[in-house]
Amino acid sequence: MIVIASTKPYAQKMLLDAFQAFAPENSFCLPDDACATQATTAACWFPDMDQLESLPDLQLIHSMGAGVEHLDLKKIEYKYQLCRIVDAHHKQGMLNYLHWGILYYQRCFDLYAHNQQQQIWHQYSQLSEHDVKVGIMGLGEIGSFVAQKLANYGYQISGWSKSSKSIESVTCYSGEAQFEQFLSQSQILINLLPLTTETRHILSNKTFEKLPKGAAVINSGRGAHLNSNDLLACLQSGQLRGAILDVFEQEPLIPEHPLWTTQNVLITPHVASHAPLKVVVEQILENDKRLINRQPLMNVVNLQRGY
Ligand SMILES: NC(=O)c1ccc[n+]([C@@H]2O[C@H](COP(=O)([O-])OP(=O)(O)OC[C@H]3O[C@@H](n4cnc5c(N)ncnc54)[C@H](OP(=O)(O)O)[C@@H]3O)[C@@H](O)[C@H]2O)c1
Repeated sequence: MIVIASTKPYAQKMLLDAFQAFAPENSFCLPDDACATQATTAACWFPDMDQLESLPDLQLIHSMGAGVEHLDLKKIEYKYQLCRIVDAHHKQGMLNYLHWGILYYQRCFDLYAHNQQQQIWHQYSQLSEHDVKVGIMGLGEIGSFVAQKLANYGYQISGWSKSSKSIESVTCYSGEAQFEQFLSQSQILINLLPLTTETRHILSNKTFEKLPKGAAVINSGRGAHLNSNDLLACLQSGQLRGAILDVFEQEPLIPEHPLWTTQNVLITPHVASHAPLKVVVEQILENDKRLINRQPLMNVVNLQRGY
């Protein structure tokens, strides 16, 4: 039995609709239903952990997304297993979004949009993929897929992760010691890190100032990776050419936030990539089945690392 658990009404409704559409009848319930006491797995997005802790048979907390930063890992540790969604459509969707973002700068569409406002007719030279150096922070499930595909398109790709990696045609860097070297050659910096205490506000002055002057930043990780005051200052000074932002510390982004109206900032409303809801439901059902049959679970999160 799956219990659907979110304190966010939109997510609760989305999950309930998805389970009604794609899961067998009587395989899911809400936390206040009587059958929640039989729930072994909770499908979660910002759940009420106190409520979940009162369910006697619960063993598995399942994120409905790739990230787990919306969960209180301290409360989960030692008590429950934790899984997340990993999906091929998710990776492909992110690749599409990031390729579009790279082309936006590679082909100067940011400059053409600006020039249009002033009726300026000016043709910039056309860069090829081989001329563009892209740095990807995070070489996990999504980052390594994106890095490999973009390298196949001909871009000069560097990647940075915690442990060292080897990916064909990608220059891989790892750890604090190699961060500066990685940044120094990233004309377009892409963030695909998980949000942890180590990576919170990693997109800040300290990072931006090590990028080549006029670099662009694409944040499709999590909102709290970005220090938005630092970003605004670096855009103002010209250290950064522009930013594409998909995620924000507070979502929706509040109407009065200066990012909405800053020249050279392009905002998308957390849509870089979504796993199809059918896949989300299927993966959660499959993991619940494996849990009951004492089989190894898919996409287990390492609670010590926090991702
Ligand atoms: N905007 C959207 O629509 C959207 C959609 C999907 C996912 N996302 C976000 O995309 C991000 C990536 O997801 P994923 O599934 O690819 O994550 P993942 O598989 O957990 O991979 C995380 C990567 O980050 C690296 N990393 C973690 N902490 C680090 C640190 N302190 N220093 C250097 N590298 C570090 C890891 O290094 P190791 O490999 O060495 O452990 C790993 O390569 C997440 O933030 C997720 O929430 C956003």
